[in-house]
Amino acid sequence: MKEQISSLKEKFIKALGAATTNYQLEEVRITYLGRKGHIATLMDTLKTLGLEEKKEYGPLLNELKQHIQDQFNAKKHQITVQQQSHAQALKQFFDVTAYIPEADTGSLHPMTQVLHHVQDIFLSMGYEIADGPEVETEYYNFEALNIAKDHPAREMWDTLWLDIPSLLLRTHTSPVQVRALEKKQLPLALVAPGRCYRHEATDASHDFVFMQVEGLLVDKQINLGHLLATIKSFMQTFFEKEKLDIRIRPSYFPFVKPGIEIDIECPFCNHGCSVCKETEWIEACGAGLVHPNVLEFSGIDAKEQTGFAFGFGLTRLAMLKFGINDIRLLHSGNIEFLKQF
Ligand code: PHE
Repeated sequence: MKEQISSLKEKFIKALGAATTNYQLEEVRITYLGRKGHIATLMDTLKTLGLEEKKEYGPLLNELKQHIQDQFNAKKHQITVQQQSHAQALKQFFDVTAYIPEADTGSLHPMTQVLHHVQDIFLSMGYEIADGPEVETEYYNFEALNIAKDHPAREMWDTLWLDIPSLLLRTHTSPVQVRALEKKQLPLALVAPGRCYRHEATDASHDFVFMQVEGLLVDKQINLGHLLATIKSFMQTFFEKEKLDIRIRPSYFPFVKPGIEIDIECPFCNHGCSVCKETEWIEACGAGLVHPNVLEFSGIDAKEQTGFAFGFGLTRLAMLKFGINDIRLLHSGNIEFLKQF
């Protein structure tokens, strides 16, 4: 026992000497003074000894414990003082006049700003915001929208197909119409903003990925007048022009009947400018009354219910609003460009 006590003392002195950080010091404390540490083990052994031996070794062991505790405290104090003076020294050389580069404040991306604005306008008109997957099935992107497999209208959308059969990157947000109709909760009024993809060469005004906003309203006795009034009042609010007029041209989309294109008066000029290419009109969106086949496909009685749908390029709207002349800037991550918004 006596030997154990003195060898423990030696070991402790070595271990304490080697500890230079608080973490190492704590390890030493646990090893020697911890609940399952060396001192505790020796105390347990002492309990098993006879009375005479207890009388002899008890005080020795207590002395050792006290010694270890004192040494430990002293070392802890020493390390704390060292750390404090180190921190103090660092502070002494703090230069309040040192140059700190100006911090840039962030702002919302122009696309996000326009998205919020468009959503707010439609929300104020009582529309809901809907969403759908960007990886779509052929069924939702085409078939359920009245575009059968061999329909020549598929040529209108240069499609990016996935390696998995029947899966594609949606070419427009119109599949969200079908997903909403399937739920059969009528009447409904929704807008669905989201990314679309097309297999196209990129230039200043085309990108293979861009944002669209789909609109769909289904109720009894909906007609073109409702559609035109909705688009007109949306465009007036969006471009902050009280008297922005619209005009329509006949067009063709398999999922609407009749199909139209809606143009808006150029919000930037009176008699022609570079934005409207001197025509005073700007193409705004494709639209029409929901084709009865589309309603029937989703199990809705087209004799009872009618609706309108529209789709416009949100990316294009953002470019018009902010006067951005190259679509590629929008996801360039160019700080000089983004700082302007
Ligand atoms: N989905 C059509 C497109 O991408 C736009 C559209 C939507 C047309 C809804 C009519 C009705 O070109």
